[in-house]
Amino acid sequence: MADFTTVEVETDLLICGGGMAACGAAVEAAHWAKKNNLKVTLVDKAAMDRSGAVAMGLSAINQYVGLKDGQNTMQDYLDYVRNDLMGVTREDLVASIARHVDSTVHLYEKWGLPIWKDKDGGYVHEGRWQLMINGESYKIIVAEAAKNALGKDNIYERVFITEPLMDGDRCVGAVGFSVRENKFYVFKARAVLCAMGGAVGVFKPRSSGEGAGRAWYPPFNSGASTYFTLQAGAELTCQEVRFIPVRFKDAYGPVGAWFLLFKARATNALDENYMQTRASELEKWAPYGKVKPVPANLRNWLMMLDVMEGKGPIYMRTEEAIQAIAKETTDEKAYKKKMKELENEAWEDFLDMTISQAILWAATDTEPEKKASEIAAAEPYFIGSHSGASGAWVSGPKDLAPKEYFWGYENMSTAKGLFCAGDASGASSHKFSSGSHAEGRIAAKSAIRYIVNEKPAKAKYDAAAIQALKDLVIRPLKTYADNQGLSTQADVNPGYIMPNMFRMRMQKIMDEYAGGVTAQFTTSERNLKRALELLAMLKEDSAKLGAKDLHDLMRAWENTHRMYQAEAHVRTILFRQETRWPGYYFRSDKPKMDKDWEVFVNCKMDPKSGEWEMKKVPIVRISK
Ligand code: FAD
Ligand code: ADX
Repeated sequence: MADFTTVEVETDLLICGGGMAACGAAVEAAHWAKKNNLKVTLVDKAAMDRSGAVAMGLSAINQYVGLKDGQNTMQDYLDYVRNDLMGVTREDLVASIARHVDSTVHLYEKWGLPIWKDKDGGYVHEGRWQLMINGESYKIIVAEAAKNALGKDNIYERVFITEPLMDGDRCVGAVGFSVRENKFYVFKARAVLCAMGGAVGVFKPRSSGEGAGRAWYPPFNSGASTYFTLQAGAELTCQEVRFIPVRFKDAYGPVGAWFLLFKARATNALDENYMQTRASELEKWAPYGKVKPVPANLRNWLMMLDVMEGKGPIYMRTEEAIQAIAKETTDEKAYKKKMKELENEAWEDFLDMTISQAILWAATDTEPEKKASEIAAAEPYFIGSHSGASGAWVSGPKDLAPKEYFWGYENMSTAKGLFCAGDASGASSHKFSSGSHAEGRIAAKSAIRYIVNEKPAKAKYDAAAIQALKDLVIRPLKTYADNQGLSTQADVNPGYIMPNMFRMRMQKIMDEYAGGVTAQFTTSERNLKRALELLAMLKEDSAKLGAKDLHDLMRAWENTHRMYQAEAHVRTILFRQETRWPGYYFRSDKPKMDKDWEVFVNCKMDPKSGEWEMKKVPIVRISK
């Protein structure tokens, strides 16, 4: 390891991550930093042009509130989000994002993102809150603005952040390593903005063999935000609120355009629409079972009941929907033209954001205008920006937050100087790509204000402390090198465990005991306690992770990060004595929703002792 050099970077605000929230943060921070003569630095483990959940592009902007246009009111959006999350949401945070999100969308348009327009020049809506876009280059466009704002000297790509730097209870930077060169990085800052996304790969995926690695949530995001905030001693919230997307089976193509734009039905193999045949089930989950639209987890749940009764496969009736729209035309020629147009839109929806689904359609001779396609519930993911809610517990804005939720600087976590946005901040679901960008802007402006007002000192880490962190970060390389000779097969060795083996063990634990696909998303106290026993042994073995090269080193750290996400999840499901989100997970020993549990569950871990603290936090609403 002698050739591993240490690079120290001094800055004022450090942005960890290069996705939607980080790009929003970069644009806003650059503006305020210039006024105050401050430096802003951004670090992404990948290349910003194509990193994070928007890497492949998207076909819609899922949050546009239309406040100024008078299309909707703030109350409408709060009602929508609260109901979709079965009552558990921070309305102050949701409102904070909602009042800024439209301006982010207008910036996108200014930067060149093609948003569909109708004949009167208005935006084409997919649904009430969603706009259609030609989005295959969405991330490149948003990243370009961020890069221009910061300047290339302030951007570090392909540098993987592992740990926070702390000065007591204050976050003052981060460390990481290059995934391309033997370099260990130390970023010393006055404040840090964590925007490293959510987590994929904590649960065993459905994909295997030739499809291995394919998942709905992107491979870049592996729990770094959760690990980083936990190690900074920050409080987390909603760690039980995983997201299970129902998607086109095996390639995870999006369903939003089909349900909302094309108004397609999903039916079981007996041609029954489970949203109708199982409508009475919704009564059990009142009041949220009775709202419109039906919450995402309950839509999942009705479908799962059909699957568990053997009524699958489940189909998205693309053929029916396309033909129904085309039939609205007046003559044969117009019908043919419309069919062609709809066929194009169907393919574009996938080509814009989930190219693999278009490839699967081609490989399986699927003509969507003629043949229905299977849909299925995916494995669980952690994504606080979509229909999940997991993330850090952050301060709300002064003018909106109840006093219990305000501690000086919006989007600051309970660790001083550590700000969070996008998937990294919790209890503010349905922000999606546009809202994450808006929240990044809010958090960055707040972080700069914190630096200007509080004048926090930069990290003071001496050479010995830095060396200790470096030893920890590159330990898997040393473990591998020291033990390599003990076996002839590189991935089986008494001295180390390789990241791939480690990942499969973790995923099996989560799948079988914590309500993954194999367990039909069902778990119980006994199963969760067993999961914790096995996770404790996994944690012991994580000290023996081995890495033969930098790629493996990245895999080793990704899986360490995921392991903490797994533990936070299991502990929180265990703590919550009810089932509130059937369709995301079902506790067979607590099968009902309980009014007393209409609260947040927050957790934190003592970074030194590893002890966890769990607590209920009351929900304070700002709306009527
Ligand atoms: P991301 O944009 O995912 O960015 C995370 C960043 O962190 C990445 O740059 C990553 O490289 C970096 N990172 C991760 N770990 C580390 C580390 N250890 N060190 C350094 N950097 C790290 N929204 C819509 O509006 N419309 C849609 O149609 C839509 N479709 C979606 C489809 C899919 C398949 C998915 C997964 C999401 C979709 N969303 C959509 C939601 C939207 O993409 C997310 O809400 C948004 O990207 C969240 O922003 P973020 O910055 O938190 O995370
Ligand atoms: S995406 O992230 O991959 O784009 P998806 O395609 O499921 O997600 O949904 C896009 C948007 O439509 C999201 O805002 C989602 O909440 C909403 N949506 C999807 N299906 C429905 C439905 N059946 N009813 C109401 N809203 C829906």
